[in-house]
This record gives sequence, C-alpha cells and structure tokens, in this order.
Amino acid sequence: MRLILLGPPGAGKGTQAARVAARFGVPHVATGDMLRGARDSGTELGNEARAYMDRGELVPDELMLGLLRERLSREDAAEGFLLDGFPRNLSQAEALDGILSQVAQDIDAVISIEVPDEEIVERISGRRSCPVCGRVYHLTSNPPAVDELCDADGTKLEQRADDKADVVLERLRVFHSQTKPLIAFYADRGLLKVVDGVGPVDEVESRIAAALEGAGVS
Ligand code: AP5
Repeated sequence: MRLILLGPPGAGKGTQAARVAARFGVPHVATGDMLRGARDSGTELGNEARAYMDRGELVPDELMLGLLRERLSREDAAEGFLLDGFPRNLSQAEALDGILSQVAQDIDAVISIEVPDEEIVERISGRRSCPVCGRVYHLTSNPPAVDELCDADGTKLEQRADDKADVVLERLRVFHSQTKPLIAFYADRGLLKVVDGVGPVDEVESRIAAALEGAGVS
C-alpha cells in the first residue's frame, strides 16, 4: 500500500498516520518528524532546515527530495509506505512521481483530511509532545494521565517551537497557497478521497478506513 495523507497543519495527519500505518504494516514516513530528528541531532541538513521550520516556511525542495529518496530506498519501504507531510507542493508531487516510476511503483490513494482553520488554531495551541518518544497529546482532547508528563516514559511534555500562534498562521498560509493545489492534482488522477477530520480521533480513523475501502485499498 502506498498512501499519502494531505491536510493542513494540525489536521491530525500524524495521529491518524500512526494508526493506519500500524494497521497496514507499512512505515509511517513523516517528513516533519525526520526534519525535527535531523535538527535535534545537529546534522547539516537539520541545521539548514531549522530556520525555515521556525518561520513556518517550507524547507527547500532540493533538501526534501534527497531526504525522501533516501528514506524510500530503505528495505522496509519496498512493499509500501504512508507519506505524512510529503508532498507539500506541486514540484514535490511531480518529483515523487519520478522517484516511484524509477522503481515501477504508483500511489494507491491520497487521503485529504479536512479541518477548518479555526479548529486548527485550537488544536495546535493545545498540542504537547514527548521529546523522548514523540507521542503526541492535546491538553483537553487527549491529555496525559498525569499532568504534563508522557504516559509512556514520564518525560515532561513540550510544545513545538513552530506551534507559537504567529508561526501557526504562517504555516496555514503556506498550506493554502502551496499544498492545497495538490487536492486538485490528485483528484484529476482519480486518487483523492476527502475525509472530514472533525470529531473524535476514533471516528476520523473509521472514516479513513471507509475511504480506503472505497478506493480498493484494504
Ligand atoms: P510537519 O511536522 O509535517 O507539520 P504539519 O504538516 O504542520 O502538521 P502537524 O505535525 O502540525 O500536524 P498533524 O496534521 O500531524 O496533526 P497532529 O496529529 O499532530 O512539518 C513541520 C515543518 O517541517 C513544516 O512547517 C516545514 O517547515 C517542514 N516540512 C515538513 N515536511 C516538508 C516538506 N515535504 N517540504 C518542505 N518542508 C517540510 O494533531 C494536532 C493536535 O490535534 C494534537 O494535539 C492531537 O492530539 C490533536 N488531534 C488530532 N486529531 C484530533 C481530533 N480528531 N480531534 C481533536 N484533536 C485532535
């Protein structure tokens, strides 16, 4: 299964991708997580990406394509993958086609998770995550059992640097101008399934499962 999850920042792509990838037994390839990992380990790519991420802008395509090509060439992605956060603009989508055509592969479906901007701002302002295991929480809709501590390892939860209000607005602007055109791009190819992302996490997961079944992916 080769799947793309599209959606604005905070739409729940990461939350849902973890579940879908586990169900299908494919790697969850999240370019944002990969960039944060590179940034935190101080690699050259991470240092270059940091300023773009902190401003809420897209990291340049040439950096992203090298990162993605390397990740998809690993053995665990040979039978499928779930892309979360890539592609982010039309040139990345075209480059992805090129990478996949070299190994005679194709995308099976694209899920677009729709959430209105007002809810995005609320979701992102309440997001906290564990700096050690990466588990994601929300202060009201998905709180940890003990205030501010990760359920899995007890680490103090943190707010992402790019989750400050002004950066969130820039990320939303970038989504509308650069990423949203991908919805028409994949609809034209008959790959797009639109899913309402508002409602409990389990319900959104069921909608995604139904959409995938409708696309013949099971
Ligand atoms: P990235 O990490 O991909 O960020 P994003 O797309 O902005 O998405 P988020 O991680 O913010 O949100 P999400 O949709 O995964 O939501 P989540 O599940 O966490 O990218 C970060 C940066 O890296 C970019 O700005 C860019 O600089 C760079 N970058 C990454 N990829 C790139 C690329 N391809 N090209 C160039 N640059 C790139 O949920 C959010 C919150 O809501 C959580 O608290 C969660 O608990 C809660 N929640 C989830 N579902 C629900 C629900 N149904 N109801 C209520 N709350 C919910």
